[in-house]
Amino acid sequence: LTQFEEARRLLRDPEARQAGFMAEKIRNLQMKKPILFLSGDEHRRRRKETARFFSPGLVEGRYRELMVTESTRLICDFQAKGRVNLDDVTLDLAVSVASEIVGLTGSPRHELARDLDALVSMDAATGNPFVRFLKLVRSQLILRRFYVRHVTPAVNARISTPHEDLISHLVKQGYSKIEIMTECLTYGAAGMLTTREFITMAAWHLFENNELRESFLTGNDEDRVRICEEILRVEPVLGLLYRRAGDSDRPVGVRVHAANTDESVIGVDACCIRADRRIPSRIGASGMSFGDGEHRCPGAQVAMNESAIFLNALFHVPGIRLEANPTPRWNRFLTSYELRGAVMTCGTAQDNRPCPT
Ligand code: HEM
Repeated sequence: LTQFEEARRLLRDPEARQAGFMAEKIRNLQMKKPILFLSGDEHRRRRKETARFFSPGLVEGRYRELMVTESTRLICDFQAKGRVNLDDVTLDLAVSVASEIVGLTGSPRHELARDLDALVSMDAATGNPFVRFLKLVRSQLILRRFYVRHVTPAVNARISTPHEDLISHLVKQGYSKIEIMTECLTYGAAGMLTTREFITMAAWHLFENNELRESFLTGNDEDRVRICEEILRVEPVLGLLYRRAGDSDRPVGVRVHAANTDESVIGVDACCIRADRRIPSRIGASGMSFGDGEHRCPGAQVAMNESAIFLNALFHVPGIRLEANPTPRWNRFLTSYELRGAVMTCGTAQDNRPCPT
């Protein structure tokens, strides 16, 4: 589907079922399913139970503090080195923030980031049968490491001392470690990797578009979030959202970019990113980039605030420059773009202002 209104009807249809992200395979597993694959009453109950981890109070309070601290840490590191890979920095930031919400805090963060990235970026369906077999073996090994290194210590720590996070909640609800791992992978892909790609994409636009960058830097927090939403509307990270409606055995895909640039709802220059664009709240400033209906992303506010805070701090670094553009590639599992290899540089350590501590 490419028209905004018909896409919305499908995503809001109470009879429609998730059909993306290998939904059919996941539904056949004999275990509690991750939230993305539930529907109806069970899904509503799970959303209600976990809504408190995404409350506006937390986003404005504890998470905001974390976003500022983590952005400062990464920017100090950039200034000390003078040259870094943009997508390494955005992965570190996205994993640092989301792992606190989830409770995956019992292992080194760079290892968590590396393992999640390897699991989701690996395209197991390509290559000849031998290559596919090797990829399968490799993915099983990484999955095992994910379970042993990241999930198990986090769960064990929370059995004795519960925290205010998702894993503690799942432990209390009697989930097994394997069930907790599949939920963590869902949050890892839906929350961490999407946010990383978006921030890299938004930074690229801000590097290239002087007018947009000027509006971003001279605006207030609210303006910056709105500009992030406008970039995300035109550059949705998840490109296709699939649903199976009624008895049909053919999944229907929503083309998010097409729906988000439907001129009948956005206006004539719908494909342009405009800092001064005002979209009626009925449509939403980011269109359907966070989905719609029962699966609409609960982490939208976290992702937009985190992006705005980090990018504002980043573009205040003296002498910042994009030395190499990222190379886009396509992740078929997530139906998302991946931007790799962008290199940023900044003035030498003497030119730079001291880092805030
Ligand atoms: C720019 C960043 C993000 C984008 C573009 C994004 C996009 C999306 C989209 C499109 C969906 C709906 C999928 C569907 O309908 O099939 C979704 C669901 C979800 N997202 Fe996000 N997301 C982002 C950040 C986050 C963050 C930061 C978190 C949590 C820390 C998160 C957690 C989730 C979860 C748990 C779901 C499943 C919700 C459900 O099934 O009820 N996302 N996201």
